Amino acid sequence: MLKNIVRPLLAWYEKNKRDLPWRREKNPYYIWVSEIMLQQTRVEAVKPYFERFIAKLPTVEALAACPEDGLLKLWEGLGYYNRVRNMQRAARRVTEKYGGRLPADVKLLRELPGIGEYTAGAIASIVWDIPVPAVDGNVLRIWARLTASRDDVLRQSVRRRAAGELAAVMPKKGSGELNQAFMDLGSSVCVPGEQAGCDRCPLAFICEAHKKGITAKLPVRKKAASRRLEAYTVLVVRDGSRVAFRKRPAKGLLAGLYEFPSLPGHASGEDVLAFLEGRGLEPLYIERLEPAKHIFSHIEWRMEGYLVRVAALEDRESEDWIFADTGTAEREYPLPAAFGAYTSYINIRLGPAGARKGGE
Ligand code: ADE
Repeated sequence: MLKNIVRPLLAWYEKNKRDLPWRREKNPYYIWVSEIMLQQTRVEAVKPYFERFIAKLPTVEALAACPEDGLLKLWEGLGYYNRVRNMQRAARRVTEKYGGRLPADVKLLRELPGIGEYTAGAIASIVWDIPVPAVDGNVLRIWARLTASRDDVLRQSVRRRAAGELAAVMPKKGSGELNQAFMDLGSSVCVPGEQAGCDRCPLAFICEAHKKGITAKLPVRKKAASRRLEAYTVLVVRDGSRVAFRKRPAKGLLAGLYEFPSLPGHASGEDVLAFLEGRGLEPLYIERLEPAKHIFSHIEWRMEGYLVRVAALEDRESEDWIFADTGTAEREYPLPAAFGAYTSYINIRLGPAGARKGGE
């Protein structure tokens, strides 16, 4: 009986809950920001981003009013930039429609851009203790093991069934704690594969997968579709004080962010020279950089790079290239983590100190 997990799980959480920045007060805006950041990024990586974001944009209204470049800068390195764009669209709506306060209602939350079933459930339960589940990958893993379900948890119908079964056992009081208990159990005890810590698990006594000895085999996840490979040649073109950037198109992957100029495919040194000459640039030297790759959800970039030193970039600015001062570029231009391998050549550090890279 799934309902028998509630008490031991809440008791376990009381003793083992993590001290996380967004758990210190039940501010709906803080919970919202943290849940959006945590959608694709690990807790440890999120912490410094969260603190900085809240310090710079302390309210829904501040988020609604933030200029795009500044906003993307706060997200730089976390990846999946549409998360923050959607959050800003939602913040504008919340400001106009609800006076800057998130509505305490799952249905109304779901109408906001970027807030899906999981996020609405997490916010509603954590902030207002509304008894709804918040079903993410961790919860699905725990559910599949508790029930020894071999169904593919990537299928929508299976997720709906899990959500329904969990909704039925949500306590009238303490649903927020229970959902957070699932999150913490999933990240520290009921982890994927062979590492699962069943000897420390408060639910092992009731877990069907544990009884059958099949914990490591669950959950079943059908293989993700393969990624499309794209090849680029990234050019770090700089003079003594400036570096060339290009703004990405307003739509599509990494929309509106800045990047190094690049050529499609893996270009030879000669190709690069010809390209630069075509733009009226005369390189003092060209150095081949190490190759790098970056994995997005559906695309993988295979990059090669060249550092190109020119005498002076002045007067060569054109429609698509802009020249950034290497001293201020870090503050002014959001550069995606995908270029992390090459930013050291302009002394740029990505994201706040101590943060790790995310993906898009
Ligand atoms: N993962 C997703 N949301 C979380 C939260 N609120 N606390 C810890 N881990 C999480």
